[in-house]
Amino acid sequence: MRAFLLATAAAIGLAGCTTVPAPAASVPPAQTAPMSDEDARIADLVTRMSLERKVAQLIQPQIGSFTADDMRRYRFGSYLNGGNRGPYGDEFAPASQWLRHADEMYLASVEPLAGGEPVIPTMWGTDAVHGHTNVVRATIFPHNIGLGAARDPDLVRRIGEATAVEIEVTGIDWNFSPTVAVARDDRWGRTYESYSEDPAIVAPLGAALVEGLQGRKGEADRLGAGHVIATAKHFFGDGGTDQGVDQGEVTGDIEALKAIHAAPYPATIDAGVEAIMASFNSINGVKMHGNKMLLTDVLRGELGFDGLVVGDWNGHGQVAGCTNTDCPQSLLAGLDIYMVPDDWKGLYETLIAQVRDGTIPVPVLDEAVSRILRVKLRAGLLDEFVQPSARPNAGEYQLLGSPEHRAIAREAVAKSQVLLKNDGVLPLAEGADILVAGSAADSIAQAAGGWTLTWQGGLELANAEHFPGATSIWQGLKDAAEARGGSATLSVDGTYSAKPDAAIVVFGEEPYAEFAGDRKHLGFSDEEGLGLLRKFAAEGVPTVAVFLSGRPMWMNRELNLADAFVASWLPGSEGAGVADVLTGAVPATGKLGFSWHERCD
Ligand code: GLC
Repeated sequence: MRAFLLATAAAIGLAGCTTVPAPAASVPPAQTAPMSDEDARIADLVTRMSLERKVAQLIQPQIGSFTADDMRRYRFGSYLNGGNRGPYGDEFAPASQWLRHADEMYLASVEPLAGGEPVIPTMWGTDAVHGHTNVVRATIFPHNIGLGAARDPDLVRRIGEATAVEIEVTGIDWNFSPTVAVARDDRWGRTYESYSEDPAIVAPLGAALVEGLQGRKGEADRLGAGHVIATAKHFFGDGGTDQGVDQGEVTGDIEALKAIHAAPYPATIDAGVEAIMASFNSINGVKMHGNKMLLTDVLRGELGFDGLVVGDWNGHGQVAGCTNTDCPQSLLAGLDIYMVPDDWKGLYETLIAQVRDGTIPVPVLDEAVSRILRVKLRAGLLDEFVQPSARPNAGEYQLLGSPEHRAIAREAVAKSQVLLKNDGVLPLAEGADILVAGSAADSIAQAAGGWTLTWQGGLELANAEHFPGATSIWQGLKDAAEARGGSATLSVDGTYSAKPDAAIVVFGEEPYAEFAGDRKHLGFSDEEGLGLLRKFAAEGVPTVAVFLSGRPMWMNRELNLADAFVASWLPGSEGAGVADVLTGAVPATGKLGFSWHERCD
């Protein structure tokens, strides 16, 4: 009660004439306990910052939409590279250009300010959601749906550690990962970003990735060398929309929805996650980016999250009554950072005007800025100003796709393979002469899926040019067959002169991301794999189907035809992990994290 009264009094005092106290949640909690050193330091900075600099902390534009001069002038608190943006206009820029860009923007952000106003360094956020896959040569780990099948938190923690190091190589501070969505309708185009339909599987894996990326709470290296800021996303309900429509409507009893879709967040908060990204979806008609009951009362009140809340890509613009450049509702609801890729100038000016006219109470602004500064303080950004290229691992380009990291990825591929059927053809016999068929067999791009070098990924990405150091599923099978005294032949259309001992048919979904992957039903309509399985069945050649997909799909025809069927998911750059399971070098231990469909509707 005392805290509430203090807060109310504070609200009345600050607002001057108001007689009705501002809602308790919109006024920073009164300091009943003495201020911690951390809070005292942050409060001192905030009191010395100008209104313009405080608002700039809330603005997160995308690279390519602002210049170093803009950064010097406005001092954006953070920025991001969208899925289709690379530094200096080059999506395939070498790692050195990523690091150069990081230095350029950092140095612009820390130039001295007039009047001794405190300088607050900017930070760069990126989507390294299955490795640092915006950058050529980075290790590409299996997407989350495969990691959910592996059920191995220690493996996921090691993936986080490796990913954090590869992010540091390019001078980036912040990863918008893990996705802890609990995907419940596989027609959703982001199902593969979800570990499982079961929150009890999602929670420990999400927490493990947070610890891998950030380091463990209480340990000296947390958010230090080898670690970056993590983001649990998208809070909440992203995987629970009606018909799996991306960014759609979630409906139902709020407690029942929280029990499924908010369930993984306590584990990530306990693991110390410093950022949470708000989701696009609405819950019972209210868009999350404007939902104070959920973003403040639940996330901060009930769940005790004290890090920063970052919006998703103009997600604030979807709130009733808002546009991309005018949305005080989101800040009042509990958002701290607006991810505003291009319309940043308009939003910046509107927010300043809304603080000046009282639409946004100064305490609300100060509380958001304080939360952003707290994360920067914890990440060491406010201690000493060290430009990205002078930090640990920066510029150590040999760490990208290092043998150690690729070994972790290969282990993850093997552990993620789910053997749905095996009539005895597996493990492949020593010395076997195998045929490998299907247009996907030698495509690293198809094995990697979306969020790979470009936002959507795509089959135009070529093995040699775009995935140096990677191993396709075909190459892995060839190496394994030959190492065991046998042979392997690649025949995309399945033709052969000498009848093979077995045929491996690699086929599946082509890359997609987000709403581009939304479907009306789960029937897999591409018949390349089906045709090859029919052909080999007619010729009496034993077959192994290797199905690449971002979700379970209706595959009864293929399942019935193949002698063995492996759900391979989206394994990434280390395709040899598939051969490890098909040859028996590694036992098939993967378990479905999602229900498999006996019907396609
Ligand atoms: C996208 C995604 C989000 C990602 C962000 C930045 O729209 O929803 O997961 O982190 O934009 O690329």
